[in-house]
Amino acid sequence: MIARVIGTGSYLPEKVLSNFDLEKMVETNNEWIIARTGIEERRIAADNESTSDMATKAAQRALEMAGVSAEEVDMIVMGTITGDHPWPATACIVQANLGAKNAYAYDVSAACSGFLYALSAASDYLTSGRGKKALVIGAEAMSRIVDWTDRNTCVLFGDGAGAILLEAQEGEFGVLSCHLYSDGNYFDLLYQPGFGTKVPASIAGIEEKLPYLKMQGNEVFKIAVRSLTAVSKEALKANGMTSEDVTWFVPHQANLRILEAVTKRLKLVDEQCFINVNKYGNTSGATIPVALDEINRQGRFNEGDLILMAAFGGGFTWGSSIIRW
Ligand code: ACO
Repeated sequence: MIARVIGTGSYLPEKVLSNFDLEKMVETNNEWIIARTGIEERRIAADNESTSDMATKAAQRALEMAGVSAEEVDMIVMGTITGDHPWPATACIVQANLGAKNAYAYDVSAACSGFLYALSAASDYLTSGRGKKALVIGAEAMSRIVDWTDRNTCVLFGDGAGAILLEAQEGEFGVLSCHLYSDGNYFDLLYQPGFGTKVPASIAGIEEKLPYLKMQGNEVFKIAVRSLTAVSKEALKANGMTSEDVTWFVPHQANLRILEAVTKRLKLVDEQCFINVNKYGNTSGATIPVALDEINRQGRFNEGDLILMAAFGGGFTWGSSIIRW
């Protein structure tokens, strides 16, 4: 039994925030942002739009593509660090929105690696024979946890959602492997200090901007390049493949310089690496499923294509997966 992708969907909010818009908000400029990150613009959720709204639309599109009704879904697992509420899981709200009354639903908190962590859980569930269909979602409203006065971070992130529908099938097309890692020793290089049980809500905490994302970007950068390269090589080795076998490298889209460094170290050519960070910035757990849906809807996947995915994010968490399309 193998978990095969039978539908993809994505949703990006309408509002575009360009680098030129950011020039009016913080001390930055278009040239700096493009040179250091490759990002030209990002999408921002409307005031009345939350993570569950975006996730629901992406999931509906994946179901429509597959011609599958919401009642047929057995499991919904969603990577997000920007849920509608601290709890319950936003995946439960999505389950209700979809009318997926037969599915159990939960969130995975693994920051930018959230989609791959969720994919691994869904693949294990389906290959165990316990269910037939699973929705795997990555959805984030990063704009709600970004400090819009901090030029070090606010230029990097965006909002969006992507989803894939997996089905348990016989055969050799589907999720071939998942390799996942964590190292909590680095948790405070990239995190949201408040408000949880360690730093409960307070007026003073708001004034200190504790509910906003904090990142030591250059430290994260170095470890991200090393980890993404190593975990991608591990995936290739585990499947008896080399870089030449990869049809598409679909990495987490955080920063063009990270992607270029990893692509080079893996000896992949530019044509193998899919890039859309220029349009959407870093949408954390949403980047990989959004990219998969873009490639799919452009008709650029062929049956049997080998897709290598890799992600790195807060926790630290990182991982890779290979799908035979
Ligand atoms: N505009 C202009 N100048 C800026 C800006 C800005 N938006 N941001 C920072 N600078 C300045 C800094 O203040 C610093 O100035 P100084 O030398 O006078 O102090 C200078 O630019 C260089 O800063 P660095 O942080 O060293 O710049 P770097 O080249 O490392 O680029 C960046 C910063 C883009 C954040 C990079 O480190 C990066 O991409 N890191 C990885 C981020 C990432 O991948 N996160 C992944 C996971 S995210 C998640 O899990 C949710």
